Amino acid sequence: MTHVLILGGTAEARDLAAHLVAQGVPVTSSLAGRVSRPRLPEGPVRVGGFGGVGGLAAWLTEHDVTAVVDATHPFAGTMGNHAAQACSRLGLPLLRLARPGWQDHPDAGDWTWVTDHVAARDVADALGGTPFVTTGRQTLHHHTGAWAGREVVVRLVEPPADPLPAAWTVLRSRGPYDVAGERELMRTHGIGVLLTKDSGGRYTEAKLAAARDLGVPVVVVSRPPRPEGVTAVEDATAAAAWVASLG
Ligand SMILES: NC(=O)c1ccc[n+]([C@@H]2O[C@H](COP(=O)([O-])OP(=O)(O)OC[C@H]3O[C@@H](n4cnc5c(N)ncnc54)[C@H](OP(=O)(O)O)[C@@H]3O)[C@@H](O)[C@H]2O)c1
Repeated sequence: MTHVLILGGTAEARDLAAHLVAQGVPVTSSLAGRVSRPRLPEGPVRVGGFGGVGGLAAWLTEHDVTAVVDATHPFAGTMGNHAAQACSRLGLPLLRLARPGWQDHPDAGDWTWVTDHVAARDVADALGGTPFVTTGRQTLHHHTGAWAGREVVVRLVEPPADPLPAAWTVLRSRGPYDVAGERELMRTHGIGVLLTKDSGGRYTEAKLAAARDLGVPVVVVSRPPRPEGVTAVEDATAAAAWVASLG
């Protein structure tokens, strides 16, 4: 009997859950539990960490999981590594489902690509101007010390985990965003440089066009490496076909 575990927290994961539920494939979606009011996928959902590779392997065994789809966010590197190790230990098929990055965006060649958040800050410092930081609340500790006394605009889905410098402006919202709104936001706050990460996808890409329109330079943190040797697809239809191919 098939039982698919989707490691989720993304729109692609919700799309896949909807596909599998519609096809009558037994599926459980797993969420980390970081977001207070998450968009829930169709079908059964479990919430919270597994307790490392051992905990995940135990959960997979206890729940007779026959295949795992790692549909976590491109920057959720730990969960992907744990999934690869647990599946390899148990001999379970594992698929990576991830939306394409922005490397093929028409403006990608104009942006500064860096491999970490500290390098992103260095580039922003060299460019000058008020930074607009959209890299997520888990990345802010990289900047709170160095940018404690300067004007910074950050946009977050959830409230910050720790207090942020008084000079910073915190905007709370969740996409999708449109280009006109993003232009307005950047104008209103006098943004001089946009710091983002290569999340990919449509929900948050409007800021890139807005930055181009306003001549605001863009600094992009590249995706961290994922485990090698894992079959990867870019959308839920292809992932559902992979599940079907397992028989
Ligand atoms: N990082 C981002 O920018 C971002 C953006 C949007 C959404 N998300 C979503 O938010 C979640 C957490 O992201 P993260 O960057 O903190 O992940 P991470 O660094 O890869 O994972 C840290 C720990 O959180 C737990 N975890 C992560 N994803 C889980 C899932 N789907 N189900 C159950 N436990 C999970 C695991 O705990 P145990 O070791 O205890 O199992 C994992 O070791 C992910 O599911 C991701 O898809 C992340």
